[in-house]
Amino acid sequence: MESEKEVAQVREVSMVKPNYMLMSLQRILVLTVILAGVLVVVHYTPMPEEYFENCDRECHELDWPMICRVKLVIEVYKTLSKSCGSCTEKDGGDCPATCISADGRERGVLVANRALPSPTLHVCHNDILVVDVVHRAPAHALSIHWRGQPQKETPFMDGAPMLTQCPQPAYTTFQYKFRASAVGTHMYHAHSAADAADGLAGAFVVRQSARLDPIKALYDVDASEHTIYVSEWGHSMGPLAGVISRIPNAESLLINGKGKSSESPDAPQSSFNVEYGKRYRFRLAYGGGSKSCPIIFSIDHHVLEVVTLDGHQIEPQRVNSVELGRGERVDFIVDAKKVPGVYKIRVAAVKSCQDNLEGVANLVYEDKKQKVLHKDDDKVDAEVSRELTTVTSDRCESDNVVCLTEIHAATKLPVELTENLDKTIYVPFNYSTRQISAKRVESWGQTDGHRFTYPASPLLTQGGDVGANQFCTKEPGQGDECVHVKHIPLGATVELVMFDQGGESDHIFHLHGYSFHVVGMRELHRSFDSETIKKMNEEGTLFNKNLVDPVEKDTIVVPKFGVVALRFKADNPGFWMMRDERSSHWTRGLDFILKVGEQSDFVQAPPDFPKCGSYVGPEYFLI
Ligand SMILES: *[C@@H]1O[C@H](CO)[C@@H](O)[C@H](O)[C@H]1NC(C)=O
Repeated sequence: MESEKEVAQVREVSMVKPNYMLMSLQRILVLTVILAGVLVVVHYTPMPEEYFENCDRECHELDWPMICRVKLVIEVYKTLSKSCGSCTEKDGGDCPATCISADGRERGVLVANRALPSPTLHVCHNDILVVDVVHRAPAHALSIHWRGQPQKETPFMDGAPMLTQCPQPAYTTFQYKFRASAVGTHMYHAHSAADAADGLAGAFVVRQSARLDPIKALYDVDASEHTIYVSEWGHSMGPLAGVISRIPNAESLLINGKGKSSESPDAPQSSFNVEYGKRYRFRLAYGGGSKSCPIIFSIDHHVLEVVTLDGHQIEPQRVNSVELGRGERVDFIVDAKKVPGVYKIRVAAVKSCQDNLEGVANLVYEDKKQKVLHKDDDKVDAEVSRELTTVTSDRCESDNVVCLTEIHAATKLPVELTENLDKTIYVPFNYSTRQISAKRVESWGQTDGHRFTYPASPLLTQGGDVGANQFCTKEPGQGDECVHVKHIPLGATVELVMFDQGGESDHIFHLHGYSFHVVGMRELHRSFDSETIKKMNEEGTLFNKNLVDPVEKDTIVVPKFGVVALRFKADNPGFWMMRDERSSHWTRGLDFILKVGEQSDFVQAPPDFPKCGSYVGPEYFLI
């Protein structure tokens, strides 16, 4: 009996006391192994690209257009962040992709996806872009302009604040959705020039099927890595800096976000690789910066065969250098046929705007099997000694300088734009600075006597909220501040004659929604009044117009005391800004708006389109 009891007890004891310690250790071990396995698998699984649905591909005319999803996270960031280490110093190693080296100096940057310049977008013609702008930079009201895209189906996606949309407040997301309908090398940038100069700008390339490209025979390679974005770099402009009359000098020119300064001569430079014997199509966009001086671009010992301007094809021009104003783009072809090596790509600001403002990059011949070189390969192109410039000046008379008026478009001026135009609009503008005391300079900017100001609500999407008293009068003003709108009937053929009365410097204007044919351009060397200009234009003594094959552009450099005549057919209804590109922030008074068509002609924004106007205007009291 007793022994039975004992046995039972022993059994009980052994059942009651399993080894808990060991069991939990085993479980922990098993769980750890599983967890480690999961981590290994996750670690080695390639993550889908977070920001881009990559539309950078070979374009084919029979392919369906793609939907290109882009997420642009806008932040205040800095150059030389931790990840850079000492990569901008001598023997500091390569800079990691996450490092913004700029010109090797520390500075705040306004970035999209922590990149400088903003990531280049490559799409095919007719792709649909869906761009989420996630705005995380306090104190900036943003809108992004897609330069070069007419936005005919979606005028409310043009990114002009208070015209086509309410500027986006910080900590919100705005979705741009539009069709890339205009082929060519373009740009996208913050509407505010200060924000663009602080980094929020990049290249935007719309390619077409090689079979549809009329100049395909001229090149072998059109690759995304041969896109060049040049920008001015210097002191941050900040929202208030734009208000001062004297803009500080820029300090360097960056090529694809890289350059050097005297302080850091070892900062990395951009390189563009080529193989001997191939012809490369390069795409160049100049985004400007705080000062936005015109720049001269060249590649040592290489000829640039310029084939497009602002995305429009021209009769090819073989030149040694190209001079561009802010916002202009060119495509050129480089025949890589020099003694393989490294050649300098140079940009320099025009001296009359700022001396000693330069940037460099490298053209690198990849070390593939070297071809036998003919001794005179180097000489062939030395015969070319010409410059192409979009900036008209006295130099145009020289045989070695090809100016805009001497360049021929690849296509003829449409017949309806050759004569009997429906409307001619004369637009005098005057930007002048005056020394008002030994220390102070004051500036005035007016177009037609009106100082441009933005309306309180976006004209296209909330036009009804804008009081009639905010608009400028039709007659020339007396320096009044108002919303300057010029009305054009839908479908009219238009000639816009713009002329500079101030004579301070060149001026650059960019038209949204259209590109125009530059039928006339000239320096007048002094101020003329509207009556005289009108008379001269009607008599045909103002210019020797090119009504056969003038170049087509969307950005124009109006020479100092100069006049230009721009023609287009007003077939894109909406509110389109003629933007003064030298403005360092939102405006300095020279901008104006073209209202094409009537409210009923406008493509309506979707009903849930974000709106301005929950704030009570300053003239109301809540109590
Ligand atoms: C341009 O503006 C300045 C400053 O307001 C003025 O002194 C000058 O007379 C103007 N020039 C013309 C041609 O209107």
